[in-house]
Amino acid sequence: MDICKHFGTCGGCSFQDIPYSVQTLCKEESIRELMSVYGINCELKPINSYSEWFYRNKMEFSFGQKEGISCGLYKKASHGELIDISECLIFSKDAGTILKAVKDYFMLKGNSVHNKFSHKGFLRNLILRETKFTNELMLGLVTTSSEELDKDGFVNMLKGLSLNSTLKSVYWIVNDSLSDAVVFEKKELLFGEPFIEEKLDEFKFKIAIDSFFQVNPLAIKNLYGKIRNYAKLEKREKVLDLFCGGGSIGIFLAGSAKFVWGVEVSQPIVDCAWQNAKENNIENISFFTADARAFLNTQGAFYKDVDVLIINPPRCGLSNKIIRAILRLSPKTIFYSSCNPDTLFANLKALSASYRPQLIEPFDFFPHTPHLETLVLLKQIKKEI
Ligand SMILES: C[S@@+](CC[C@H](N)C(=O)[O-])C[C@H]1O[C@@H](n2cnc3c(N)ncnc32)[C@H](O)[C@@H]1O
Repeated sequence: MDICKHFGTCGGCSFQDIPYSVQTLCKEESIRELMSVYGINCELKPINSYSEWFYRNKMEFSFGQKEGISCGLYKKASHGELIDISECLIFSKDAGTILKAVKDYFMLKGNSVHNKFSHKGFLRNLILRETKFTNELMLGLVTTSSEELDKDGFVNMLKGLSLNSTLKSVYWIVNDSLSDAVVFEKKELLFGEPFIEEKLDEFKFKIAIDSFFQVNPLAIKNLYGKIRNYAKLEKREKVLDLFCGGGSIGIFLAGSAKFVWGVEVSQPIVDCAWQNAKENNIENISFFTADARAFLNTQGAFYKDVDVLIINPPRCGLSNKIIRAILRLSPKTIFYSSCNPDTLFANLKALSASYRPQLIEPFDFFPHTPHLETLVLLKQIKKEI
């Protein structure tokens, strides 16, 4: 496939002009280098790579005022300059059709675009979510409350589009906040179902307009499957999934574990995790809404006999305080999956007196970008006293 016509200006993916096989080699090499810098000597599995195009399941576009109404992404290294996007090769084959139709529709209707400096105007963002195994599409139009939306007209226009995926859900989100981020002050389902549904192996996951779901479903399915294979659970083990998000790793492991606990700081995401567990008829799982460190410090003693700890933190990794709490918890096995190799390796060093990496395995979750997901299996070599 040719590279995207917006490559070079769009801040989305910076590696598209590098052949994909070279990208994966470089990513693998970057992990090898970190292993050498940190003196880690264990098996490095080959990088896992999947479809390099149309892998993302979510994009958040912004409206702008270039030549009438534009809608797209911010330009690389610019202060808020928007590029009008007509295709997005890492997201969806339908992106261009939808963006054009939505822009044309609002041009005809004469609606205005929100200006983030004056805070005047109507159209703010367009959120698109697409499942990859079930081909369902969800659209969220984000506006201020300053103008009327012709709800039926908007939905009918969308229903008339010829798309590859099935349009299952259309939301209108009102956001009058001063924040640049999308704030779901008010949301209204204009058409279809409140959720779209992704299928990973035998499990179903409902995705809401505002819920967290890993961006690359094909890659995440494989990562979860690998964790399940390496863990070799025998229905006796207790598993603690810190930073559990929508609970999907725990849901993958629950069938072969005795019990799984998930800890997640965001209440809406925990609600989603409960819903996912219910949807998949999983009963030996429980979720806690809590900060991971506070949870370990206040309830760590209660979960002292955790056999397997799963850690999948945000890019900032683990603080020293969480690391100390993990050492006190003292699980025999840890799976640490991280989207930031730098913080991952710094954390491995901090754990090294008690835990030794058995294998390291990179997963290319984010082709054509510099980002990389890495899984490490650690075994306890010394108990914290
Ligand atoms: C990389 S995501 C992992 C999600 C999940 N493991 C999955 O595979 O879908 C990190 C998650 O950690 C949550 N989080 C961030 N800071 C946290 C904290 N201090 N304590 C608990 N959860 C936190 C975020 O809300 C997010 O859902």
